Amino acid sequence: MANVTIIGAQWGDEGKGKVVDWLASRADIVVRFQGGHNAGHTLVVGNQTYKLSLLPSGLVRGKLGLIGNGVVIDPVALLAEIDRIRAQGLSITPETLRIADNAPLILPVHAALDRAREAARGERRIGTTGRGIGPAYEDKVARRAIRVCDLAEPDTLDWRLDELLLHHNTLLAGLGAPTFEKATLLADLLALAPRILPYAEPIWERLAQARHENARILFEGAQAVMLDVDHGTYPFVTSSNTVAGQAAAGAGIGPDAVGRVLGIAKAYCTRVGSGPFPTELHDATGQLLGERGHEFGTVTGRPRRCGWFDAALVRQAVKVGGIQGLALTKLDVLDGLPALKIGVGYRINGVTSRHLPSGARAQAQAEPIFETIEGWTSSTRGARSYAELPAQAIKYVRRIEELVECPVTLLSTSPERDDTILMQDPFSD
Ligand code: GDP
Ligand code: IMO
Ligand code: MG
Repeated sequence: MANVTIIGAQWGDEGKGKVVDWLASRADIVVRFQGGHNAGHTLVVGNQTYKLSLLPSGLVRGKLGLIGNGVVIDPVALLAEIDRIRAQGLSITPETLRIADNAPLILPVHAALDRAREAARGERRIGTTGRGIGPAYEDKVARRAIRVCDLAEPDTLDWRLDELLLHHNTLLAGLGAPTFEKATLLADLLALAPRILPYAEPIWERLAQARHENARILFEGAQAVMLDVDHGTYPFVTSSNTVAGQAAAGAGIGPDAVGRVLGIAKAYCTRVGSGPFPTELHDATGQLLGERGHEFGTVTGRPRRCGWFDAALVRQAVKVGGIQGLALTKLDVLDGLPALKIGVGYRINGVTSRHLPSGARAQAQAEPIFETIEGWTSSTRGARSYAELPAQAIKYVRRIEELVECPVTLLSTSPERDDTILMQDPFSD
């Protein structure tokens, strides 16, 4: 039986949460495998709206949610999110949520360093979410991180904090930011421990058992391929790998378990934070897309930058991300636009290219090559079958399929869970 992995195919906020929630009805387990509370996934179910950052979106369907070792976990943020979602009437307990005991923690020092560095970068800032994601991943790779399992060992916490603070306080002092006291951090972590540890376990073991029982696993990506630390628009990226291959390493399961890879893309394109965005619109159309699409960051509330669908970029994401089917969301936002543009490549210093180059300067200089396609006048909003779509909207989808060299297997036509058109079930073998 196929598992499914969902990843973003642009710069995030493509509607991964909605699609994961929708597909979760067919899954037994939903697993987060990278990122942290920089993610913001909005699910609309009837008159309830759920905004999830760390919690796997399958929890809303009552499915078992796992947070894998590839995620960086801020324990304070996790507990606050659990409280917030419980207040909306969902049951989140150690029976429904399990977190990897070998996942690294985000501590207040990480957020402080993230913000101090961004301030020091000035004009060249990345536009991070300020949640400490980058510094936490740095600590993991530098073998300095404090992990969930350390909360059970006060003596380990004690010497791990010495090593961590030696590094961070030196940096913070150098940046002119306040430093941290070990005693305070230690006391805070020990106070959090009894609330976090009941959720902790070796996730790999649970996943091995799930595979043995032929359970259907849905891997929920955060961010997107163009924010991937290797394959994205570096340095304007996040600090984790967001491609489908990461689902295996970030959960503790073999690569064959990743299953079918579904990439999510908006029918146009948005980006939050700094960095190149060749098809960005700075005119009234861009503003219209932002207003109609309610394009404000779920995590930071920042307005998202908007632009035309960039097929060259998504084609690249399809190749490096291992995407086998594309879910196209927010088609309804394009309703009534007389003409639509699709980016098909770039011109860089007079030379044409089918892909975005790797260099930061070359990326910044990339000018889009557009093709124009006629829009449609009638509404696609809320459509639940292909037959309800205007012919011109179908043409637009078909053209995207050709250009990105990947079939569009799912369409989304409103934020609401069931306003979805499935052309090919990713769970079927
Ligand atoms: P994620 O980070 O990929 O999960 O995406 P976000 O939740 O951050 O952003 C997507 C936004 O678009 C959310 O507010 C969704 O409710 C909304 N959304 C998702 N699909 C559709 C759609 O097909 N049409 C419209 N109009 N909104 C959608
Ligand atoms: P979801 O899962 C959109 C962006 C930030 C910034 C860059 C680095 O909701 O799609 P970080 O705090 O990760 O170090 O910031 O990455 N970013 C996102 N943009 N959606 C997200 O998540 C994002 N997570 C990070 O805006 O440009
Ligand atoms: Mg989001």
